[in-house]
Amino acid sequence: MQSSPWWKEATIYQVYPRSFFDSNGDGEGDLPGITARLDYVQQLGVDAIWLSPFYTSPNKDGGYDVADPRGVDPRFGNLEDAKELITAAHQRSLRVIADIVPNHFSDQHHWFQAALKAPRGSKERARFHFYDANSDGTPPNNWISLFGGPSWTQVEDGQFYLHLFDSSQPDLNWENPEVSEDFEKTLRFWIDLGIDGFRIDVAHGLVKEDILKNHPDPQGLSDALRLDLAMDTEKRNALLLTVPYFDRQGVHEIYREWRKIFDSYIGRDIMAVAEAWVHPPVNATRYVRADELHQVFNFDLLTAEFTAKVLYDVIDRSIALNATVNALPTWALSNHDSPRVVSRIGQEQAGALALFVFGLPGSTYVFAGQELGLPDGELSDSDRQDPSFFRTKGVIKGRDGARVPLPWSGDATPFGFTTGKPWLPISQSWSQFTVKSELKNPKSSLHLYQNALKLRKEFMNGSGEITWVESPEHASKGQALLAYHRGSVTVFMNLTDITQECKVDGKLLIVSSGTVDAHNEMKVIPARSCAWFIA
Ligand code: GLC
Ligand code: CA
Repeated sequence: MQSSPWWKEATIYQVYPRSFFDSNGDGEGDLPGITARLDYVQQLGVDAIWLSPFYTSPNKDGGYDVADPRGVDPRFGNLEDAKELITAAHQRSLRVIADIVPNHFSDQHHWFQAALKAPRGSKERARFHFYDANSDGTPPNNWISLFGGPSWTQVEDGQFYLHLFDSSQPDLNWENPEVSEDFEKTLRFWIDLGIDGFRIDVAHGLVKEDILKNHPDPQGLSDALRLDLAMDTEKRNALLLTVPYFDRQGVHEIYREWRKIFDSYIGRDIMAVAEAWVHPPVNATRYVRADELHQVFNFDLLTAEFTAKVLYDVIDRSIALNATVNALPTWALSNHDSPRVVSRIGQEQAGALALFVFGLPGSTYVFAGQELGLPDGELSDSDRQDPSFFRTKGVIKGRDGARVPLPWSGDATPFGFTTGKPWLPISQSWSQFTVKSELKNPKSSLHLYQNALKLRKEFMNGSGEITWVESPEHASKGQALLAYHRGSVTVFMNLTDITQECKVDGKLLIVSSGTVDAHNEMKVIPARSCAWFIA
């Protein structure tokens, strides 16, 4: 069943353009490469693709450093290629979501280049956050960049500019009306070209308060924001409540203006999803309103342990929080910023969790390669390109492992991704993960995803709320099974390394790995797997 509107229970496939498919042998994926492989995407059974940035960019941060938000970077093709991609996707009933990056521009954007040449106090500098040094020459405050190091860089005349990320990503000053006018232009530009929605990068970051105040524990805050898992949870949560530059009230006003733009395209159903890492979690739902954004990412599953207790808690909480704003949650197991789910929790566990999540109400995001069961790529330090690797002097390895190009076919690396040298090396051990070999293997992760997404459409979408089986509010850490009913389907997940028996009346629809033995209503669920039964 198709839920209405289209995005409400969609499956959205995140494509990282540089790593998807290379059409011209230069070792980097591109827009014509994506168009060439849309049949594959369609056969996967998703409803939409979200394209990570393909705009003009010096590519210091994987294209999230935008030098011209209304232009296509030559490495990815040109505007005609973008139009062709959108048309070809629409012909296959796939919507297209673009990434918009409003927190910062690249230092190569003509605005920033002009600001460098202009004097302090000029209107060119007022589009960014330029301030004088303190009297002792230090930066205006002690904030630390999310990629490590100070979040201020000094220019020739001694002023500093703010960058929450890399020094090549100057933060924009959203108090300046020229900034909002320019973003309105950009939104309209892509909607007019056929784009169906936006993923808003660092959506919580645009408005800064107390810019001239020091933070009492800038390093602790920076570790907390990186979700440093070694940090004590209480300490982390307490620090996260003190961020001076995220989740300020002003950001909501910006998105309410954006919503008016989206809704002015009558009949287009333009949607937007916020990337908003905020604390406490209830704050995330404040981005989702009838007069604001349509969805907010829920990142809990990117870090959740594979235990009944943790999974129950994060899933139940997300459903409940979204219900307070009359919305459905979003789910994501992987993205371009986090370790791949297989590397984090294991191959079979990742398949089980995907199947479990595909049955839940709301939208599901799948990061390209996740359907193949790809682990993180093995890289040496000389391969790495993530600015967080350089800015922390290698202490943090960065996110390149999740961005290794997709293996398509053949027995030897680079497995049909390119006829040239891939921008990140693809390990020879990935021969088992190529699209071609997985299509031949009925037990592959790809088949699991294809089958599951078909069944999700048939039985789950539009089937309302879930009810948990066996009062999991008492779920202890050691609990073996997690289960819910939705519509006529019951979903069981076995979190342990041994088979588990359960009582369920019904016929097996799908299992993520292994085989389910049935003795009438007693079913044996394989270790580390998930199964759907229909009454
Ligand atoms: C977002 C993107 C990430 C990027 C950062 C700065 O978190 O997902 O890849 O590095 O914003 O733009
Ligand atoms: Ca290319």
